[in-house]
Amino acid sequence: MVTAVARPPGSLATMPHLVEPTTLVRESFIAAARDFRNEGWLPEFPVDEVAADFAGYVRRVLADKQSWDVPTSTLWYIDGVTYLGTVIIRHRLTPRLTRRGGQIGYQVAPRNRRRGHATAMLAAALVYCRDTLEVTRVLLTCAESNTASRRVIEANGAVLENTLDGECRYWIAIPETRHQAE
Ligand SMILES: CC(C)(COP(=O)(O)OP(=O)(O)OC[C@H]1O[C@@H](n2cnc3c(N)ncnc32)[C@H](O)[C@@H]1OP(=O)(O)O)[C@@H](O)C(=O)NCCC(=O)NCCS
Repeated sequence: MVTAVARPPGSLATMPHLVEPTTLVRESFIAAARDFRNEGWLPEFPVDEVAADFAGYVRRVLADKQSWDVPTSTLWYIDGVTYLGTVIIRHRLTPRLTRRGGQIGYQVAPRNRRRGHATAMLAAALVYCRDTLEVTRVLLTCAESNTASRRVIEANGAVLENTLDGECRYWIAIPETRHQAE
């Protein structure tokens, strides 16, 4: 169901790819969650609770298919057993999301940043939008001050429509030939 990079049969080589949330990456996910909390990105994330029942947490994330009043897909970007980041895809826009929020949100684990993961993860998410959701044009928004996120969005071919209340609103037309970054 989730776009995955094809690997040669029997190959043990790994490369980052999107998957549905999985217990395989428990250790690195918990480490990343502590880092997210400590940097203030997810200050309320109940790391200890999640660590105590990670399988239950993963089940809840998998079951949670609706947020912001629209259907959503939550995917994790992983490399082997290493959690790298999360992307949340909102299947359609509402008037509120059209103004701020858009269709795709993401975060990369602090200890894995500045290695191109967010750029590649968004590229993979766009392939998922096109191939799984049959969506070919998406809106993304991010704070004007979020230089890293703006670079990620722009590197994926986005066109800036405008900036509303400090939030940049970008559109990406997903080409038919776009492949998940390998
Ligand atoms: C934004 C975020 C996802 C970027 O993740 P990342 O994996 O480091 O991004 P990449 O490595 O793909 O870098 C993309 C570009 O941003 C630049 N960049 C990364 N971090 C940066 C920073 N702190 N300051 C300035 N530029 C930065 C990179 O150099 C790269 O630039 P280039 O394309 O010119 O080489 C990550 O910083 C994050 O999770 N932040 C908190 C959550 C967040 O802001 N999410 C987006 C909400 S809209």
